[in-house]
Amino acid sequence: MSSHPAADQSPTQDELDLLHYKSRIDRPVRIKIPELQRDERLRHVIFSGQFNADMLEELGGTADKIRVLSKIREGQDFLIKLLHHKRAMLYFTQPSTRTFLSFMSACQILGITCNEVRDPTTSSETKGETRFDSIRMFSSYFDLIIMRSKLASLAESCAYLMNDLDETGNRSVPIINAGSGADEHPTQALLDIYTLQRTFQFSDPKDSPVSSRFEELRKDHPDLTRGLSHKVYGFCGDIGRGRTVRSLVSLLTNYSNATIIFIAPDDPTLALKDDLRRRLIDRGVRMFEVDSFEEPIDGIPVIQKLDALYMTRIQKEHNNPSDEQHFAQLDLSRYKLSHDLVSRMKPYAPILHPFPRDQHFGEIPPEIDDDPRAMYFRQARNGMWIRAALLATIFGVDHQISRYYHEEIAHA
Ligand code: CP
Repeated sequence: MSSHPAADQSPTQDELDLLHYKSRIDRPVRIKIPELQRDERLRHVIFSGQFNADMLEELGGTADKIRVLSKIREGQDFLIKLLHHKRAMLYFTQPSTRTFLSFMSACQILGITCNEVRDPTTSSETKGETRFDSIRMFSSYFDLIIMRSKLASLAESCAYLMNDLDETGNRSVPIINAGSGADEHPTQALLDIYTLQRTFQFSDPKDSPVSSRFEELRKDHPDLTRGLSHKVYGFCGDIGRGRTVRSLVSLLTNYSNATIIFIAPDDPTLALKDDLRRRLIDRGVRMFEVDSFEEPIDGIPVIQKLDALYMTRIQKEHNNPSDEQHFAQLDLSRYKLSHDLVSRMKPYAPILHPFPRDQHFGEIPPEIDDDPRAMYFRQARNGMWIRAALLATIFGVDHQISRYYHEEIAHA
């Protein structure tokens, strides 16, 4: 029993700080977007809803140029000088492999020096410092804070903290949300879109299973077009708790005639959440919710209809005892891929997964990795290029990259 019951029940300063931003957090995303910009340029990256199709095209173009320049010595030397006067703090208090390392690599490509706090027990938070004081301290030493937290609204609140500091003439830096609770993972969605952009160009053999066969493919798939519009996207697995799904689905609504199919158990924890369903309906997106790859849509089993498949892991770490009870009644094996299922997919349809995949559950067994449609390792590498493009955009050097690329590469 605690010796300080009253103190245990009173809100912490962290909770009070979050409460302070509640009225701003509760507004619709479209109202918040201008506050996350400066001079009509991206400043803070908090939601995927901040990006429209033109911005995604621009970012993808910048990422393409960075990847080409990174392959040659002169290009590397040019890139590394661009932001060598900047420093970034990677404040990751939730586990991460890809997001952390790809942001660090992206910083290194552009010459940004990085430092990190990954374990708050090594910081002065153990002495009672609030997260908001920690963040403000980071902004004293660094020019950018990239943060992942289990608290859904922490990154957003920190962006408002920075804006308030700015307005009162204090030092303030951009905030990038690298994963916020079960809510959003906007930069994962950027790399997912970038992977789809490259795949649906049908031009590069490394990025597309059918690069040189586009016209041939149209004999069997006459409606097939280049680009992300007019495609059927499937999301399979733990839809309810997947922040990557929420962020990517929001970006896909930027493309015309995109159909979205959720393949998930009919379970309140794992199925699509009401707020996302409502948003899709409000935006007029053609959407289906099914509980199996075999369920027919327009008379065809889902697995054969998909132009792209996004697999996800069942996020067991978030289970509570009642989830465990529900899940025991479900046949979760339906949400795993198999050779048989993959053999029935369209020959050009990429298989994506934000990773990590779960070796115990096996939603994508390793034997599928050799299939040319398996894009997940490329997808993770694309994270480095698109995050470098995002940093270049935030710091306003994207036009320099474009100019150098056209002068030194395209016209060489
Ligand atoms: N996809 C993703 O966010 O991976 P990490 O958790 O390893 O960063």
